Amino acid sequence: MKLIKAMRGTRDIYDVEALKFNFIEDTAKELLENYGFGRIITPTFESTDLFKRGIGEGTDIVDKEMYTFSDRGDRSITLRPEGTAAVVRSYLENKTYAKEDLTKYYYVNNMFRYERPQAGRYREFYQVGVEVLGNASPMADAEVISVGYRLMEKLGIEDLKVNINSVGGNETRAKYRKLLVDYLTPKKNELCSDCQNRYEANPLRVLDCKNEGCQNLTIDAPTLPDNLNDQEKDHYETVKKYLDIFGVKYVENPRLVRGLDYYSSTVFEVITEKLGSQGTVLGGGRYDNLIKQIGDKDVSAVGFGAGIDRLMMLLNEDQILNTPDVYISWLDEENIDYAFLVANTLRDNNVKVYIEYAPKSANAHRKKAFKLGAKKEIIIDSESKTNKTLGLKELSSRDIEIINFNEILEKIR
Ligand code: HAM
Repeated sequence: MKLIKAMRGTRDIYDVEALKFNFIEDTAKELLENYGFGRIITPTFESTDLFKRGIGEGTDIVDKEMYTFSDRGDRSITLRPEGTAAVVRSYLENKTYAKEDLTKYYYVNNMFRYERPQAGRYREFYQVGVEVLGNASPMADAEVISVGYRLMEKLGIEDLKVNINSVGGNETRAKYRKLLVDYLTPKKNELCSDCQNRYEANPLRVLDCKNEGCQNLTIDAPTLPDNLNDQEKDHYETVKKYLDIFGVKYVENPRLVRGLDYYSSTVFEVITEKLGSQGTVLGGGRYDNLIKQIGDKDVSAVGFGAGIDRLMMLLNEDQILNTPDVYISWLDEENIDYAFLVANTLRDNNVKVYIEYAPKSANAHRKKAFKLGAKKEIIIDSESKTNKTLGLKELSSRDIEIINFNEILEKIR
């Protein structure tokens, strides 16, 4: 029979990879809850219209990457390609805006995009994201950027760069788009083939094309920050001021535009050089128009999404290995109850214990204990059960100390 494999662009996460995933999720939850974010869990699939309206037709995600299909009731549904549109849908549907003037959510979810798989790019991937809804202050932008920055610090991920920019509101972007098209038109034939298409549909994306030729052609292009109106400039300056106050190191990148349509002012990305072309580990920005687009309400919001799969590639394994404190070697079948009494007594007191379900030879146990990286070994034989004792040794030493059952906690700690 032909073996059935996981679908292209998806994978199983287990072993060390699962430990890394847990570490990222646990670290993020603790940090975000410290910052006053509450968790939101939205459905895996939504009405296709939500993403068309939210992310925007003409973007890569909506035009080429969505997993869209009809269900048995002939509804067009889409597996979420990102988290923001669904959070906004929930906020509007549940009239959260009427209950509180500031809402801070975080989520840890799988997302689906039909992209060409490569290292760091999957068709099912995971994000930890935050959304702050109901506040237009530049301080919210700065806090969102700073919490993303702290998350990277807590995960111990180094050599990251925070890029920031402001893309301005609709009017500014329309004006800028015209300036940019005028600038690009005489150079159009020199652009890469992707950008020749983008040039019509979404000329701003030419600015962050990875192709060196395109980058050189746009060196002298007009920039977005130079074309912001006074209020937008003021907002951007204040974001930078608070980033300084919060101790976030950042670089201004006037070419940063991001791939989703809903941004309206501050945008930012956290980038690493270590993952080649998939080096963006976190991206976000302010999206003051999205809520109007989806539900006709004027609500300001800002947030980010960080790619868990990419963060996993950057984690240092030593810091997350789940090695047992104690390995229990038990040698005969009749000691099973005593061996598990010892194991569970330790576990009830927060000691990490590894024990197998069948007895083995002393040698086979020792090999396994080394393989798992256990610190101590407890040896249980028939004498131990009768005398209510056990043998305790440091894995690296040969000396066995015989201790009484009621001393274990004290000895292990
Ligand atoms: P995004 O830039 O599309 O933004 O995605 C955020 C992050 O998700 C990326 O920086 C990357 O780390 C990760 N990511 C995206 N696609 C893939 C993939 N195919 N495989 C692995 N990782 C991937 C958003 O999704 C916005 N919703 C962020 C946001 C929240 N903006 C405001 N609030």
